[in-house]
Parts: sequence; C-alpha cells; structure tokens
Amino acid sequence: MASTPRACIGVGCENTADTLQCPTCIKLGIKNSFFCSQDCFKKSWSEHKALHKSQSNILHHILPPKAVSEPDPATGLFDPFPRFNYTGALRPVYPLAPKRVIPKSIPHPEWSEDGVPKYRSKPGRAKIEILDAKAQDAMRKVCRLAREVLDIAAAAAVPGVTTNYIDEIVHNACIERNAYPSPLNYNHFPKSVCTSPNEIICHGIPDQRVLVDGDILNIDVTLYHEGYHGDLNETYYIGDKAKADPDSVRVVEAARECLDLAIQAVKPGVPIREFGNIIEKHAKSKSCSTIRTYCGHGINSLFHCAPNVPHYAKNKTPGECKPGMTFTIEPMIALGSYRDVTWPDNWTSATIDGKRTAQFEHTLLVTETGVEVLTARKADSPGGPVPMPTAAVENGEAKTQ
Ligand code: MF3
Ligand code: CO
Ligand code: CO
Repeated sequence: MASTPRACIGVGCENTADTLQCPTCIKLGIKNSFFCSQDCFKKSWSEHKALHKSQSNILHHILPPKAVSEPDPATGLFDPFPRFNYTGALRPVYPLAPKRVIPKSIPHPEWSEDGVPKYRSKPGRAKIEILDAKAQDAMRKVCRLAREVLDIAAAAAVPGVTTNYIDEIVHNACIERNAYPSPLNYNHFPKSVCTSPNEIICHGIPDQRVLVDGDILNIDVTLYHEGYHGDLNETYYIGDKAKADPDSVRVVEAARECLDLAIQAVKPGVPIREFGNIIEKHAKSKSCSTIRTYCGHGINSLFHCAPNVPHYAKNKTPGECKPGMTFTIEPMIALGSYRDVTWPDNWTSATIDGKRTAQFEHTLLVTETGVEVLTARKADSPGGPVPMPTAAVENGEAKTQ
C-alpha cells in the first residue's frame, strides 16, 4: 500500500493525519475517520458525533442483522445452528419465509408433493438422451424463459435486499411465465431458487440475510415449463465495492471464462471428460482451484440426468457429444481450497477455508456443427464481465493488487 498523506477530518482543520482514528467510527465500520491529534478530535466531537448517528442508522439497514442463537428481541432473527463451526463470516439468518406455493394450474414436476424425484432411481438412467426437433424446441423455450427470470432476479440483487426477496421475485416471475421453479421441494429444497454468496459454493437457501456492498452472489435459476427444464446461473457483484476487490474479480471472471472456454469446445465427437481439462487449466492459470463435489448434468424432461459433467482435469466420465444432447456445464471456481463442507441445513455448500467462490452455468444443445447456448445472455442482461481493478484510488490512498 502506498502511503499518501491523509487529511485530518477535524472541523476546520487543515493538518494531515497519522494513525489516530475515532474509536466509535471503527466500531461502526466507518472508514477514514482520522484526526491529527487528541485535541483536534475533542474540539470536533460535538459535530463529529452526528456522523455516528446517521451512519449507524444507514448501517442498520445495510449490514446483515446480527446472528444470534436466540431470536434477537428487536428483529426476531436468529442463527439456527449456533454451535456449527462455520468456515467463513457468512451465517444463515432465520426464520425462513413460509413455503411459497405455485398455482395448481401450472404443471408441477413429480417432486412437488413429496420432495422425491423418482426418476433418479429408475433403470436406463445412464443413457444420454438425444432430443428430437420438438423436444429441442421445448428446451429452447424453457431456457429462454429461465434467462428472463435470472435477469429479473439479477436486477433486484442490490445492497440492502435479502436473498429471500430474490426468492420471492424468482417465484413470481416463474408463475407469470406459467413455469414451476424446479428447485422448489426438489429433494425437499425449501425455496424456488439457490442464492449463494461469497464462500458459498452452491445450493444456498434464500433467507433473511441482507446483501451488502462488496458481496458476490450466485443466483441459480431452473424453470420447468411444458415438460422440460432450463437451468442457468451467474455470479454478480453486489454494489461497487466487489468490483474494486481484485480477489473477487479474479475468481468471478475466472469462473466466467472457464465456462466460456469449455462451451467453445462443445461439438459432436468431443468426449464429455474433456471439459474438465479445459476448465481446470484455466482456473489454475488464474491461481484458482476447481470444485470437484458438484458437476454439470444432462437436462431435458429430467432435471438431473446423464451425462455427468465434472469440471476437474483427468476425470473419467463416460460419453461424447452428439447432436441433440442437452446438458449443463457449471464450473465452481475457488480462490483457495476446492474442498467443501455442507451446513447443517443439508444444502448450503461452503468452502472449507471460508474463501470466496464463483460459478456460471448454461444449458447447452449439441448441434451438427457445434453448440447452441440455450440460456445465452441477451444484449440487456444485467451483469457481464468487469475488468481487473489495477489501481483503485480511495480517499487519496492508492491500492494496487
Ligand atoms: N440448479 C442447480 C443445478 O445447477 C440445482 C439446484 S437443486 C436444488 O444443478 F434443489 F438445490 F435447488
Ligand atoms: Co443450476
Ligand atoms: Co445445473
């Protein structure tokens, strides 16, 4: 870090300030409250303390509510697993909102009632299905709708909103499109979308946690419409702070590029195992690791079917691309260890070292000559690549990566 002299924030003071900071500001997370001297601090106190009041009100709305094991008397919010050894700073914030319902008039997948996708234990599930023209069109349609829903959710993902609010938006956007949100009650998953911030690898459950400037958030949307599933996800920068954080940008952009490079290789005759080689090589070139526990998958009238699509190098997954196949590629890329732990909610997957991860997912159709990205971004889709911050200048202090 370069040390540009910083100005004293004392009222009417023109001195430079060294290391003396207002202790209340530090507690409240207010940055750069430097004073040149104790004297100046005391003189400025009556005016300066007004900042604490305004900031603590703002912070109350922006910061995640305090997670406690007993419901916080002021908010009713609590950490459901107070004795769990969390790997990072993120905590679940309960209670979850009541179960949302989808009108009976919208066709439901088989797990909507009892939470069990029976097809997963039926024989013949190792065969990779080839879709006819009609089924391919149905996949095009559901994937286009899924893209619309993800884009609506992404536009709502700003500092100050809860992931539960994003779930509500996804749920309603599905209903408006005559679609069922495939995650809802899939193996008893309690929500309509997966929201995975920061160190969460995947399968995060939308809850009462408030998004803060500086988070990164993966939103994973799957729709079931006219008998077929369309599945996609992207990782978004929440507010401007994450875009200025070199590590966050490195992992998010690495994940985005890993998916894009793998897609470029999709064409008839290419072994499914090849994608992991491409993905891990690129992740390594960005000093990132590749999650091994979760894979891409075939998708059609079934949510998760053959082929299994690992994202790591030297995997031995069987099968090769043939025209008419539909599957996802959805690499999860980590800043630190690729190892994961699952929270006691039996869904949320976190990195073992609490470092951040990012993921991107598309549903793909293999064509005669290559690939059709069924969930492709539109010209006005929110998100998209951001450049690596090189020298972020904040309050006279030059930060280089
Ligand atoms: N959409 C996820 C995927 O990409 C699956 C979510 S399953 C859920 O495969 F139950 F967690 F929603
Ligand atoms: Co998905
Ligand atoms: Co998927």
